[in-house]
Amino acid sequence: MNLREILYKPELTKEEIVYLLSLTDEEDINKLYERADEVRKEYCGDEVHLRGLIDFSNYCEQNCLYCGLRLDNKNLSRYRMTPDEIIETAKHIINSGIFTIVLQSGEDSYYDTDVIAYIIYSIKQIADVAITLCLGERGFNEYQTWKIAGADRYLLKHETANPKLYSIYHLHQQLNERLAHIRYLKKIGYQVGSGNIIGLPMQTIEDIADDILLCKELDLDMAAFGPFIPSPYTPYRNKKAASVDLTLKTMAVARIVLKAVHIPATTALATIDENGRIKGLKAGANVVMPDFTPSPYREKYEIYANRRCVGDDPRSCRSCLQLQIESIGRKISTSRGDSLKMKIDS
Ligand code: 5AD
Ligand code: SF4
Repeated sequence: MNLREILYKPELTKEEIVYLLSLTDEEDINKLYERADEVRKEYCGDEVHLRGLIDFSNYCEQNCLYCGLRLDNKNLSRYRMTPDEIIETAKHIINSGIFTIVLQSGEDSYYDTDVIAYIIYSIKQIADVAITLCLGERGFNEYQTWKIAGADRYLLKHETANPKLYSIYHLHQQLNERLAHIRYLKKIGYQVGSGNIIGLPMQTIEDIADDILLCKELDLDMAAFGPFIPSPYTPYRNKKAASVDLTLKTMAVARIVLKAVHIPATTALATIDENGRIKGLKAGANVVMPDFTPSPYREKYEIYANRRCVGDDPRSCRSCLQLQIESIGRKISTSRGDSLKMKIDS
């Protein structure tokens, strides 16, 4: 079978996904990106959804080997935003004409069930925006309470679909446990996002193919594929960063396989390539997540070093992104950008 035939098949096998991820010829790779762009246009249109990010705490009780927020990193200066600061920041996002607020932190149980519920409820009183939670693994009862308080979506990456690697990166935690959380979140009505990290130590192309297939099996609303970037003061500080090409190929294949799903051009991709956002948007992505975390906190959300745009003023972010997005013939969405699957179902 030739490349063109594979790109237009309705379903891809693992072998075909591995073949696409392994393409090296520049012309072939461009064909892959073009097909992903076509599928993106068919299922998502030309609108790019902005999600306003608030990284409200960089405390974390976990010890993921790759992440700068890990508990054992004693070199990171830690911060927690107060509920009032978080709600104020949400107002800035709403005033910038962005209709999704992402509340993100390390796994930090200092913010208990009620505080998070209070923050969600308070933001919902301001405007009809979507609230996405990205708080790591929390209690099943907490997920329920936050849903009732008004949360719409939850992001919980599976990180890797390889159970052996998962247990290595997460110091004996189990992939099954993570998947049980993702499935539960879906069951109780959240729009759910997951995804992987590309280029982690020991990961193979076959593992990445499994990541894409796992996202399909989980029937996700959102899927994020971000490149690994080594982070100082972590066990993986001397490992190699993922390649831009492999990241873009993964996003493109994911678009072709997953179809009606939101895929972000990640900040991590923008960090390893100056034009990463645009390249991502042209290889299947339809979402960008600008960071609205105020200074002096934003510099301290150091998952990895030198995050893109960290020194910028969040208020100028929208106009900067608008220029970039319009330069490739796309436009910023004026809707909440809910699950593309809801449209099909209803
Ligand atoms: N490089 C890229 N992404 C990372 N994450 C954590 N550490 C790194 C790294 N070194 C991602 C994980 C996690 C999110 C908070 O950041 O996927 O879900
Ligand atoms: Fe904590 Fe998430 Fe980083 Fe793991 S990846 S150390 S859970 S912030």
